[in-house]
Amino acid sequence: MVYEYHKTTKHAQHKYARSLGYMDWNTQPDPFRVYNGAKTIKLPLAIQNSTPPYHLLDAELPSAPVVKESISQLLQFSMGLAAYKESDGGSWAVRCNASSGNLHPTETYLVLPPLMQEQVGKSSIYHYRPKDHALEELASFETSFWKKLPEGSFIVGLSSISWREVWKYGERAFRYTQLDAGHAWQAFIVSAKMLGWKVNRLDSVSDADISTLLGLTQKTRFFEDENPDMLFVISPKDVNPKLSLDALVDSVPLKFEGIANKLSPSMQKWDIIPAIEEATSDAQIPQPTTLRSEITRTPSRESKDVVLNRRSVHVMQKDISTITKEQFHNMLSSILDSQDAKENSAHLAIFIHQVEGYQSGLYILVRNFRDRDDLEKEMDAKFRWSHTEFEHLYLLQTRDLCATSKAISCSQDIASDGAFSLGMLCNFTDQLQMYGAHRYKELYWECGAIGQQLYLEATSMGLSGTGIGCFLDDDMHGLLGLTNNRYQILYHFTVGRGYVDSRIATRPAYES
Ligand SMILES: Cc1cc2nc3c(=O)[nH]c(=O)nc-3n(C[C@H](O)[C@H](O)[C@H](O)COP(=O)(O)O)c2cc1C
Repeated sequence: MVYEYHKTTKHAQHKYARSLGYMDWNTQPDPFRVYNGAKTIKLPLAIQNSTPPYHLLDAELPSAPVVKESISQLLQFSMGLAAYKESDGGSWAVRCNASSGNLHPTETYLVLPPLMQEQVGKSSIYHYRPKDHALEELASFETSFWKKLPEGSFIVGLSSISWREVWKYGERAFRYTQLDAGHAWQAFIVSAKMLGWKVNRLDSVSDADISTLLGLTQKTRFFEDENPDMLFVISPKDVNPKLSLDALVDSVPLKFEGIANKLSPSMQKWDIIPAIEEATSDAQIPQPTTLRSEITRTPSRESKDVVLNRRSVHVMQKDISTITKEQFHNMLSSILDSQDAKENSAHLAIFIHQVEGYQSGLYILVRNFRDRDDLEKEMDAKFRWSHTEFEHLYLLQTRDLCATSKAISCSQDIASDGAFSLGMLCNFTDQLQMYGAHRYKELYWECGAIGQQLYLEATSMGLSGTGIGCFLDDDMHGLLGLTNNRYQILYHFTVGRGYVDSRIATRPAYES
């Protein structure tokens, strides 16, 4: 099913993956989930909180206590609104986490030990409402589960409403939904670092258990399907990713408070979407861990300013998009290891357009050396594989690839007019054979997390980036000389100097 879905939803030059082909504004899904009838708790705004300089985020920072204020900051600088944009009389919210088409399929839940004053002695499950920066209380219960965890730990759950993406992207939407979940995961990793906390993704919890914990199995409370993505323990310490949640799941009440709002009057039906969701819903299988890399960044702004100012750009200023070698290397260093990923599976096929000290051409950053020789064998035999001064970055071919990268990115100029653009090339069939169908989602999460990190790293240097989900899959594979699906490109990204449209006004995300 995974192979079938992946093949069916490839874009080709004269054959894009199936979708409605236009925006049906009458059924546009509400981007904000609300649980009607649930008690709402307003969170204090964190905008005035001081946060560590961005370049120090990888240092061991003192951990904040888990209180309403710190949880509020965690949420605001990860999944919260960053601003409202206004143009031609219309306005729309933008958020800290990037999302394809700004459609935001990802929802956030918290499972907290007893800490809010209202809940003496009881643990609670909350849904986060980014529009109002508030929590909705869905359940409260007693459990002995927290004793297993270091003091100051709690759980975050992510889920996805794929209909929000299906509305625009049709059959390819499952891919976008998973990429967005990866962006959200990385947004949490960065926001948690500001508080000296670690995000430990649990890799042996089943989708069924996540659903039970977040109340998603209670189908009568939902109009549109909402599917489980991942759970992570946020803690001052590292937590075993194989932690058993049985004691927690067993304590959760059968019925939660609040009925989910209906997001659209009606929905399009694409049979392949529930089919791929079902096929990839097996339990996750633990994977080996990899080493983490050290990054030496140049001094930068406060980290909250970086996350709040991260924006996608839709036009690059080609004339001034050249970046320095140091900027390029810093960006690569920041995504060498997906901070919390269990195994790097994504390599970067990079089109360098304008980077000082580098000839224009095609390069590859090998993020897991295990695949190095295999990649050389699978890719075009004419590629040079010469070492560059950045370890694990190889030059494959020198040539001007501006027109090619634009054509592959669905003719989008942003792919050609920046400093560099890239495709994330994942070890595909081996990973799926080894770990099962659920790994398909995880590969997208890894790519989405790389995308979110690239956005932030670019923003911290005064540069811009944009995720590119629209690309011609097999044209890219053809360029790399790949003739089978052992390695597949799952996401593209571009970095350069963006053009800021002065006709679009910005106003604050929340009234203080
Ligand atoms: C997975 C993903 C795919 C995207 N694909 C494209 C794309 O192909 N072209 C484009 O111009 N923007 C693309 N974007 C950028 C989004 O449109 C952008 O994130 C969204 O409008 C929200 O704006 P913001 O990033 O400024 O918050 C993509 C973003 C994500 C996360």
